[in-house]
Formats: sequence, C-alpha cells, structure tokens
Amino acid sequence: MSWILRFYTSNIGLKVVMALTGFAMFGFLLGHLVGNLQIFWGAEIINDYAKMLHDHPTVLWPVRLGLIGIILAHIHAAVTLTRRSMAARPEGYRKLNRSKRVETGMRLSGVVVLGFIIYHLLHLTAGTVHSDYIQGDVYHNVTTAFANPVVAIVYMVCNVLLGVHLFHGLWSMFRTLGVSNPRYDRLARGAATALTLTIVGGNVFMPLAILAGLLK
Ligand code: HEM
Repeated sequence: MSWILRFYTSNIGLKVVMALTGFAMFGFLLGHLVGNLQIFWGAEIINDYAKMLHDHPTVLWPVRLGLIGIILAHIHAAVTLTRRSMAARPEGYRKLNRSKRVETGMRLSGVVVLGFIIYHLLHLTAGTVHSDYIQGDVYHNVTTAFANPVVAIVYMVCNVLLGVHLFHGLWSMFRTLGVSNPRYDRLARGAATALTLTIVGGNVFMPLAILAGLLK
C-alpha cells in the first residue's frame, strides 16, 4: 500500500480529507452566493453572468466534475469515520455522549443537504421539477420558484440545516487543521459563526425577499 493510501485510510487522514473537501465546498458556496446575489441587480446582470459561465464549458465541466469528486470523497470519509466510531463504542455509551449527539446531527443534516442538492439541481439547473422553467433565464426561474411559499420554505429550512452542518463542519475543520488550540477557541468559534451566518443569511434572504415581493 502506498503511503498516500495508508494516510487516507488512517483516521487522521480521513479527517483531513473531510476538512479539505469541506473547505472546498464552503468556497463553492461562497462563490455561488456572490453569483446569486446579483439577482438584486436585475435580470440582465444575473442572466449574463449565468451565460458567461455556460459559455465556458472548458472551465465549467472540470469545476462540476471536481465538485462531484469532492462531494463523493467527503461522503466516503464521513461514512468510514462513522462506521469506525460506532464499532469502537459500547451500546450503552452511545446514547449519553454529547459528541455522539453532534455526530448524529451531522449525519442527519448531511443527508438532508445531499437530498437538497439533488432536488436543487433538478429544480434550477435541469428544470425537471420546476413548473415554469425557461432555459437560460435564471432570473425568471428563481423569482417564479420562490413566489411559491412551499418552495421558498423548503429552501429556507434546508439552508438552515445546511448552516447547522456548516457550523460544526467549520468548527471541526479548524480543530483538524490545528488552528483551534484552547487559546484560539473563541476566535475559531467566532469565525465559524460568522462564515455560517454569511452563507445561510444570504441564501435565506433570497427566497424571503422574493416571497415578500421585493423582486418580481
Ligand atoms: C437560495 C439559495 C440558492 C439559490 C437561489 C441558488 C440558485 C441556483 C441556480 C439559479 C442554479 C443554476 C445556475 C445555472 O444553471 O446557470 C444553481 C446551481 C447550483 N447550485 Fe444553487 N442556489 C442556492 C443554494 C445552493 C446551495 C445551498 C447549494 C449547495 C448546498 C447549491 C448548489 C448548487 C449546485 C451544485 C449547482 C450546479 C452548478 C452547476 O451548474 O454546475 N445551491 N443554483
């Protein structure tokens, strides 16, 4: 076995993979939010931005494939670590431990986020589950989607759960990467809170603003 595989299959290797892939997804989420917020500048701006992305398939496809690889690696590492930690714990201990509750929360919110991503791709990228989808008209697709309160609420709830996942993920990423020693705990917690609120706040604000009639 090469040293890379040995490192990857060790617990610390898997945690590093989780931290790095989590960080990359966080980077995507930040970029995606900044791109999406252009909706408040009007239809032309956001649609031109989307067109620019789609006009560069040599950039778009490697990013998409990279993202799929990153998500798969993140899930594989999470499942492997979970199986190991469950195997290492006696039955009675499982119910009491606080870190065990956090782990369960991470798993449940992770499954919801994965389900949300699949729904979201079918909804706003493929248009399969959108009742009034127009190819290339992101402004129309997003504003008509969130004019429906059920869809807007689904997005908001999923994004809050994404926030729960993101907060604990960022927090343990700081620990895995060694940033968080007790002296920097408050800083790490503050940074995880601020970063999570930025993503969740922005993502919840969009459906809320459309639902409130701010964008037509
Ligand atoms: C209110 C929040 C969000 C809005 C308004 C939104 C909007 C959009 C839109 C309009 C597209 C299609 C872009 C296009 O085809 O040009 C898209 C694609 C995508 N979104 Fe979101 N999004 C939101 C939140 C999220 C979240 C939370 C995630 C991940 C957890 C996410 C992941 C993705 C992915 C992976 C794509 C596919 C990108 C690609 O085409 O390669 N989005 N989003």
